[in-house]
Amino acid sequence: PYPYFAQMREKAPLFYDAKLQAPLVSRYEDVSYILKNPALFSSAQIRIAGKLPTERSQEAGLGAVDNLLTMDPPVHTRLRGRVNRAFTPKQINALEPRVRELSRECITEMTASNEFEFMSGLASPLPVTIIAEMLGVDTSRRRDFKRWSDAVVNSSNASFTGKTPEEAVRSAKEMLAYMTEVAEARRREPRDDLISLLVQDSEGQEALTPEEVNSFAVLLLLAGNETTTNLLGNALTTLIRHPEAYEWLRRDPTPATCAAVIEETLRYDSPVLTLSRRTTQEVELSGGKVPAETTLMVLVSSANHDPRKFSDPERFDPRRDTTGLLSFGHGIHFCIGAPLARLEAPVALQELVARTPRLGFSPRQPENIDYGSSFFLRGPRSLWLQ
Ligand code: HEM
Repeated sequence: PYPYFAQMREKAPLFYDAKLQAPLVSRYEDVSYILKNPALFSSAQIRIAGKLPTERSQEAGLGAVDNLLTMDPPVHTRLRGRVNRAFTPKQINALEPRVRELSRECITEMTASNEFEFMSGLASPLPVTIIAEMLGVDTSRRRDFKRWSDAVVNSSNASFTGKTPEEAVRSAKEMLAYMTEVAEARRREPRDDLISLLVQDSEGQEALTPEEVNSFAVLLLLAGNETTTNLLGNALTTLIRHPEAYEWLRRDPTPATCAAVIEETLRYDSPVLTLSRRTTQEVELSGGKVPAETTLMVLVSSANHDPRKFSDPERFDPRRDTTGLLSFGHGIHFCIGAPLARLEAPVALQELVARTPRLGFSPRQPENIDYGSSFFLRGPRSLWLQ
C-alpha cells in the first residue's frame, strides 16, 4: 500500500475513498494531531461505510457492550484506570520465561521438517496461548479457546460486510458463557491470573462487572492476537527481503538487536494500517476543512512513512531512531498490550534466530504474499519458509 500512501501524502493529504466512504488522513502531523485530541475526534459510534455491527453480532453478545476502543472520556478514563492494573510492566515482564519456553516449543515442532509454515507454527499460537493463560483458561479448554478466538475475530471482520456466520455466533456465545463461569469462580476464589485481578476491588478501584469482564476478554482477543501474529509475519518477511539487516541480527542476536528489528518492523510494515475517528465538530486538517460527524480513516501506517518525520522512510534500517512511531496509536487509547507485544515478538525472534540457519522463502511460498483483504490489518495469511 505504501506507494499509494506516498502519493496521497504529497498530493491529497485528505483523500476521499469512495469504497470506504471516508476521507483518508495520511500525514504524520495530522494523524498525531487527531490521536491527541479525543474531544474533536471521537472513538465512540464509529461507522464504517455507514454500517454498524449487524444484528447477528449483537445477538452473539459481541456488539452489545462498549469496550475501551469505542469509548470516549470520561467513561473511557474510568474503565482504563480499572484495567491498567492488570497490565503493569512488572506483570508483563514476569511472563518472559513462559514466552521463551512456549516460543522454543513451537519452533522445535515447526522446524522438525525442513520446510514449514511460519504463521501457524509460531506467529499465531504464541500470542493466543499467552492470552489464554493470562485469562486463566483451563488447559483442557485451550482448543475450544483457539476456536472461539478465531470465530470472534472472523465475526468482527464479517460484521463490516453484514455477514456473521452461524458458527461465529455459536462460538461467541460459548466463549462468553465460559468467561462468565471463570469470572464467577475467580470472584469466589482468586488465583494468580488477570481475571482474578479484574474481578476484585483493589486500592480504591472497583472490580469489573461480569459484562465488563466479558467485553474486555473479547477485546483482548480482537486487539491482541492478529496484531502480534502480523507483527511476527511482517518481521520475517522484511528480514528475508533485507539480507543485510538479517545478517546484522544473526551476527549478534541480543535482546537489544531483536528489539530494534521489531521496532523498525512496526514502523516499516505496521500490523495496523488504519484507525477510525469521528469528528465532533468542523475541523481543519492539511488538505482542508472536514465537517462535523465525519468518520475519518487515520492512516498510522502512512504516518510512519512520512519523510517529514522519518528520514529516508522507505529504507528498512533497524539502527534508526523509531521514536514517535504510531503503530500502537497515541494518547489516551495507546495500546494497553504494547509492553506484551514488545516482549513476545523480540523473544520469539531471538529464539528463532538462535535455532535456525539463515531462513528464506520455500518453493511453496508464492512470490506475491497473500495479505488477505482487510483494510485495517496487514500481515501474511501464510508464510512458507525453509
Ligand atoms: C489499542 C495496536 C497488541 C490490547 C491499540 C491501538 C493500536 C493497537 C493502534 C489504538 C487503537 C485506537 O487508538 O483506536 C496493536 C499492535 C499490537 C497490539 C500493533 C501488536 C503488535 C496488543 C496486545 C493486546 C492489546 C497483545 C492485549 C493483550 C489493546 C487494547 C487496546 C489496544 C485493550 C484498547 C486501548 C484503549 O482503547 O484504551 N492497539 N496492539 N494490543 N490494544 Fe493493541
